[in-house]
Amino acid sequence: MKAVVTGGAGFIGSHLCDHLIGQGHEVVALDDMSTGSESNLEQLNGHSRFELVKGSVLDKALVDEVVATGDTVFHLAAAVGVHTIVDKPLESLRTNMHGTENVVEAAVKHGARYLVASTSEVYGKNDADGLGEDSDRVLGSPLKSRWSYAAAKGLDELIAYVHGGDSGLPCVITRLFNVVGPRQTGRYGMVVPRFVDQALAGEPITVHGEGTQRRCFGSVFDVVPAMVRLLEAPAAYNRAVNLGGLEEVSISDLARRVVELTGSASELHYVPYEEAYGEGYEDMRRRMPDISLAGALIDYEPRWGLDDIVNSIIEHKRAVPSQPQAALAS
Ligand SMILES: NC(=O)c1ccc[n+]([C@@H]2O[C@H](COP(=O)([O-])OP(=O)(O)OC[C@H]3O[C@@H](n4cnc5c(N)ncnc54)[C@H](O)[C@@H]3O)[C@@H](O)[C@H]2O)c1
Repeated sequence: MKAVVTGGAGFIGSHLCDHLIGQGHEVVALDDMSTGSESNLEQLNGHSRFELVKGSVLDKALVDEVVATGDTVFHLAAAVGVHTIVDKPLESLRTNMHGTENVVEAAVKHGARYLVASTSEVYGKNDADGLGEDSDRVLGSPLKSRWSYAAAKGLDELIAYVHGGDSGLPCVITRLFNVVGPRQTGRYGMVVPRFVDQALAGEPITVHGEGTQRRCFGSVFDVVPAMVRLLEAPAAYNRAVNLGGLEEVSISDLARRVVELTGSASELHYVPYEEAYGEGYEDMRRRMPDISLAGALIDYEPRWGLDDIVNSIIEHKRAVPSQPQAALAS
């Protein structure tokens, strides 16, 4: 495989690059380093089958040039994280819509297989017991910037799907449910690394809302190999496929679990949504995937439980401490 990984310097993208290189493939990562970092790829520095190209998916000519070198495209570049989306709504929309158009069109032009990383956010406020790929989308007002990520990702799916039908693009849409693991940063609103950072620093663990909202967290080490296998499974082409874990936990219990596993003395501190994200913020009560389609297509079965996932993050953060908040703001 000659793979192009957009967003390859990001959390999931860098693990995908590691995995592909480990499997003997050639990899070109394209990343504008907005939320990604070179340190995520330092283990691949100088590798003969790996190249990092710094640039944006909004640069159509560059995207065309990079995609021309590959036969497979994993499109992960996106504006990600609640803070990014709420703070930079227009820039985020541009990246998540026009960037995707550029990548998909290049994949069609150069006859490459295409996978797009979509998200459980497309289900919005649907809190059904096990969201299947055909479940309804229940989104808030399009004028609430919080939902613009879900709106753009929904369009990303549609662009891929239509090209799959009209242009015969071999494509897979993966809907990722709260993927976590080492290298994920808590800077943009990601809850698990943020809790771990706070616990390790002995600071209060800030739980947004009442903490009763429930989530399932999936390990990047389960999800990344599944993404590759899906793109190698023609039965998955032109379909959306949920990927994630099944162990459901409330956010308060997650915070307690992090405190226990880090051995921290941190206490839970509840912060209203309005204070964390501004007025009118809406959250989902529950989000749980039905992963039976991935099971049927590629025998997908999550192997990492929540404690293992949290421990892998703690271990990574102890080895590579996060930068202080002041440095991150600059
Ligand atoms: N982590 C999750 O739980 C999760 C859940 C659902 C979907 N996803 C999707 O998975 C993908 C990867 O997310 P992640 O969690 O690794 O986040 P991330 O922020 O670590 O990765 C995104 C990467 O895209 C890069 N990027 C952003 N704009 C770009 C642009 N214009 N041009 C080139 N590169 C650009 C960033 O620098 C970063 O390296 C995203 O598409 C995201 O929407 C992630």
